[in-house]
Amino acid sequence: MWRDLRNRLLMSPRFQRAAAAFPLTRFLARREAREMFDVVAGFVYSQVLLACIRAGLLERLREGPLPVARLVAGLGLEPPAADTLLRAAEALELLESRAPGTWALGSRGAALLGNPGVLAMIEHHAVLYADLADPLAMLRAPRGSTALSRYWPYAASGEPGAVDPAATREYTQLMSASQGLVAGEILDAYPVHRHQRVLDVGGGDGTFLRAVAGRAPHLELMLADLPGVAAQAQEAFAAAGLAARASVHAVDFTRDPLPRGADLLTLVRVLHDHDDELVRELLRKALDALAPGGTLLVAEPLAETRGARRMGDAYFGLYLWAMGSGRPRSGAELSRMIQEAGFSAPRRYPTRVPLQTSVLAARKPGRP
Ligand SMILES: C[S@@+](CC[C@H](N)C(=O)[O-])C[C@H]1O[C@@H](n2cnc3c(N)ncnc32)[C@H](O)[C@@H]1O
Repeated sequence: MWRDLRNRLLMSPRFQRAAAAFPLTRFLARREAREMFDVVAGFVYSQVLLACIRAGLLERLREGPLPVARLVAGLGLEPPAADTLLRAAEALELLESRAPGTWALGSRGAALLGNPGVLAMIEHHAVLYADLADPLAMLRAPRGSTALSRYWPYAASGEPGAVDPAATREYTQLMSASQGLVAGEILDAYPVHRHQRVLDVGGGDGTFLRAVAGRAPHLELMLADLPGVAAQAQEAFAAAGLAARASVHAVDFTRDPLPRGADLLTLVRVLHDHDDELVRELLRKALDALAPGGTLLVAEPLAETRGARRMGDAYFGLYLWAMGSGRPRSGAELSRMIQEAGFSAPRRYPTRVPLQTSVLAARKPGRP
């Protein structure tokens, strides 16, 4: 009842004007108006960001401030157009104007330069942006008919094992670029050094396992992924001098069993890509493959996470819909599915930035 009353009040322009004028509610009204504007205009902000990155503006300012003429040299922008972009970027704290005619990185621009994974995702979002141009059309169309589903060819494929290896290269590089922060979060939250042998399922080119190797030098490494991706992992382990410590398995987990014998099995940013039936099957295969008493570790951004709902439910909800399979799941829902597959009740290991990932771990029954 209270919420209905609140909504009736908020729908009234008179109430809105009064709330903005009354000294005790003015602060709240202004904050709400700002946040509402961000929701309304977010698409403009992300395109300003994309323009700055494509134009290389952040990169040009990495070493320090530049006069405007040098900053925009060669971009093909007339001075008024360049000025419009620079001022928009300044409003978003990507850039800062210093002395007249001189520009430097803003605090957000500097933080972005320290996150190559986020920079790669921003460029990648152009594909999702095209799909979202008509959001209702996208939601009405059969899943798997979007540009994003072509980018992730396994998502809507009836036969992921037959995906052309060349079609896995771009997404594998993107995952590798964005894995750095995720791996740090997981490895700070969960003590991998307790284990002897780890199998990373859907492990991409092995970027996560190389971070694991750095934390726990005694751990044996196993990676399973689609054939084209497994080949990239093999090359990357060899280049990192880890070929002797790592075994790579070309597996299509929609059809094949998982390699056996690990006492830790990790699924990092994998389950949310898939529909419920396949997730249940994959969890049963994980139980089968793990040594008795072994641990399943699931890491991905979760739905319904306090402080990260926009990421889990809004961003990932739409992203995964466009991708053609999967959905973000809440911790409670994922825990139930993990238990139904035969694992113990999962424990949640808090991460510093749940926006990046949450971590759940559950044990297979039996003595190690
Ligand atoms: C979103 S990526 C995550 C990669 C990596 N775990 C990370 O976090 O960077 C999902 C991974 O699952 C792999 N994958 C998808 N379907 C698969 C299947 N049917 N069998 C084996 N691997 C699969 C993909 O090739 C990809 O490497």
